[in-house]
Amino acid sequence: MAAGIDDIAIYIPRLYIDAADFAKARGLDPEKLQKGLGVSQMAIVDTNQDPACLAANACLQIMQKNKLSPEDIGRLYVSTESSFDESKAMNSYVIGMLEQVYGQGAFEHCGGVETKFACVSGSYALYDNTNWIRAGEAEGKHALVVVSDIAKYDMGSSGEMTQGAGAVVMLLNDEPRLLTFDPKVTATSIKDEYDFYRPFGKETPIVHGQYSNLLYMIQVRKALEIYKKKALASGLMKLEPGETILDHMDYLNMHLPYSNMGKKALAYLVRHEWRQLPRWKKIIHDMGIPEPVPKDPRGTIESVLGDEEFMAKDHEFTKLFTKTREFQEVYESKLASSLIASKMIGNLYTASLYLGFRSCLEFEYQKGIDLNGKRVGFGSYGSGSSAMVFSGTIQPEYEEIVKNMNLEAELAPRRKLTLQEYETLHENKLSPEEPMVHTKREFILVDVNTTTESRGERRYIFNE
Ligand code: COA
Repeated sequence: MAAGIDDIAIYIPRLYIDAADFAKARGLDPEKLQKGLGVSQMAIVDTNQDPACLAANACLQIMQKNKLSPEDIGRLYVSTESSFDESKAMNSYVIGMLEQVYGQGAFEHCGGVETKFACVSGSYALYDNTNWIRAGEAEGKHALVVVSDIAKYDMGSSGEMTQGAGAVVMLLNDEPRLLTFDPKVTATSIKDEYDFYRPFGKETPIVHGQYSNLLYMIQVRKALEIYKKKALASGLMKLEPGETILDHMDYLNMHLPYSNMGKKALAYLVRHEWRQLPRWKKIIHDMGIPEPVPKDPRGTIESVLGDEEFMAKDHEFTKLFTKTREFQEVYESKLASSLIASKMIGNLYTASLYLGFRSCLEFEYQKGIDLNGKRVGFGSYGSGSSAMVFSGTIQPEYEEIVKNMNLEAELAPRRKLTLQEYETLHENKLSPEEPMVHTKREFILVDVNTTTESRGERRYIFNE
């Protein structure tokens, strides 16, 4: 049985900070954010929003748009790394909010959990729900998978340049209009690591940013190797001499902690794939420098990072490689459109890969390209760490959904924060009754209980 993404919706908070204002306040060159990282604006949550609100607002939107009733939904999963309870799952809060609109008990039949594995957990949730549908367990019902996060880093840290917030919801069923997942090719890799983590009770993560970037690329590459074996064994792809698996993917959507990370990851994967092919000789010849090799042939992450001479040379080589005509062609045709939304919104942790997918659809369609039958590859990464590589095929009915996508219009009502306002929000100095903007027809957080017997209970309303 086929299964995949029928529709996709996003909810982005109504506040943002501008990268140039931010850079000025922190004494940084604005070019570092805008050109170096590919960050132009970062979405920020208001005092009366938490990741559950973002998720519920996205869910309501997709249900109303598709005229779905709660009876149509068999599963609702929330994937997040911004969890605020160690036990109560975030989907229960989301269901509580949705029932304020659809009636108490309306989702009683609906199953689901909150999933956690840094930024990759949404991909696991998608995979599990796809298999629920493939197994025939859905009995005609749909699954909602919501990825929702607030990427908040310590003030003054280097991670502060890569913040953002938002939720993406995907409606899954057995007759998807957008994308069918390719069966029997999903590949994973996993390793116990401390590249990025958030210990109990800490609001912001502990981040080893450069280490995490490298680990992301290594882990995704490992998963891609497994994907390759599966794609060839299952007959999904057949390689002619001189071809790579990437030639058989029309688009590549990568995890995007910031938009330029997508480009870095693509360059890494492309180098790895092209190295064995005749085309590589010509590229190296045209570049005029040899590809650097680490001193330690085992190439472990520790040995690579410790090899400063190699790291410097490799950095220089990558910069040159990304300027070659061959790489530029791949970048422009397979990746660039997926990065546009990330530049305008910032880091969404679990949701950033899927915001990229949505961005890819909208901006490739705007180019006038017929997307029917195009294969989309996904490179998902979660710190801690695990990667997942999988793919899907765009369906003939995609236009029904994609023609109405308009990111700019969706973001239009948002307000730019001054740096002072941003810092006040960052330090949690205001209560939910003191929001920066008043929204209508959205779920908002009203209060968080502080009494001993009910500490942590959250109250939400639908703001009519
Ligand atoms: N003009 C143009 N580009 C500039 C610049 C300037 N004035 N100054 C620096 N840059 C470029 C750098 O060359 C670099 O580009 P490159 O990666 O292509 O080499 C880029 O801007 C970033 O600079 P860098 O010095 O590497 O930044 P940093 O070390 O201060 O921080 C991160 C970058 C990404 C490591 C940091 O923001 C971070 O840790 N973010 C969190 C990421 C994370 O949480 N990941 C895991 C979970 S998703």
